[in-house]
Amino acid sequence: MSQRTSFYKFISEEQRSHPFSSGKLTGLLLEVLAACKRIAYLTGNGQLSSQAMGAADSENVQGEQQKKLDILSNELFIESTQWCGYLSGMASEEMDHCLPVPDVYPRGKYLITFDPLDGSSNIDINVSVGTIFSILEMPDGETSVEDRHFLQSGVKQVCAGYCLYGTSTMLVLTTGRGVNGFTLDRSTGDFVLTQPDMKIPDYSNEYSINQSYSRHWEPPVKRYIDECLAGEAGPLGKNYNMRWVASMVADVHRLLSRGGIFMYPMDARMAAKGQGGKLRLLYEANPMSFIVEQAGGVASTGNQRIMEINPTSLHQRVPVIIGSKNEVNRVVDYHRQAAAECA
Ligand code: AHG
Ligand code: MN
Ligand code: MN
Repeated sequence: MSQRTSFYKFISEEQRSHPFSSGKLTGLLLEVLAACKRIAYLTGNGQLSSQAMGAADSENVQGEQQKKLDILSNELFIESTQWCGYLSGMASEEMDHCLPVPDVYPRGKYLITFDPLDGSSNIDINVSVGTIFSILEMPDGETSVEDRHFLQSGVKQVCAGYCLYGTSTMLVLTTGRGVNGFTLDRSTGDFVLTQPDMKIPDYSNEYSINQSYSRHWEPPVKRYIDECLAGEAGPLGKNYNMRWVASMVADVHRLLSRGGIFMYPMDARMAAKGQGGKLRLLYEANPMSFIVEQAGGVASTGNQRIMEINPTSLHQRVPVIIGSKNEVNRVVDYHRQAAAECA
């Protein structure tokens, strides 16, 4: 019989290999997975759960129209994790401020940030969505839980992961020792290790960007995409393919599986509004950067390593350029050249 490694077996063995491990991270992750399974069930019911479909009557703190499923997924995530005793507080795309764990539950050493439903413009059309999360340590010696405790750079993440609700439901996770992918066995409810030690190829010929904004892009991004479009005859000497799902989870999962570059760069519209980018640092860019770097890729704003940014606010936005090492480094190099020309 072939050996099957469930998530529980995998994480228990990881825990045993750390002599001083307390099992608290394992305990927390099991509850995060329980939340993801509930969200997978909800999204999987699609139009059958009519009460979960469509727009809600509200906007989030960033002025974006919320979908009912954004709010329900947020509530499910909170309900599934807040009681476990390993968390002090949580912060989410769908909440203006952090949520300290209520007094009725014990508090623990971790904080979690999450995007309960990523790619929510895809909900109503039955295209892949996901959940993204990042686990941090609560700073020592603090008694209250406030937004400022979450303002930690990405290099301090203890664990990051996403759950992709696609044709199958997949969990992809890093605790800083590589990246592993698990597929939900719908007959048993187990996440089973199916993609051990995921690695992103250094080169790729696939890019992912919302091309309809090209007139607003910054020049280094425009230069790279123009070169991709020039194909074999151009300076990059190869033909490129383009993909854009508009769910970061799905677009990043593709590049983790077969390489590529994903960009949501800074552009002139966002600059005019004084906005730092579109994607949120603490629950989109940082966890995805941790995963991508652990798989051998690179994650940059174009000008800085994403995980080294010192956050200044809970819902801070940043430009994101992540994926195959040599492709991302080329775009970073174009930023460097453009800055040198301006200096
Ligand atoms: P969210 O649904 O959590 O707000 O995130 C959507 C994000 C990201 O997943 C995706 O890559 C991007 O927004 C799509 O943006 P455009 O609609 O501008 O292409
Ligand atoms: Mn998102
Ligand atoms: Mn979201």
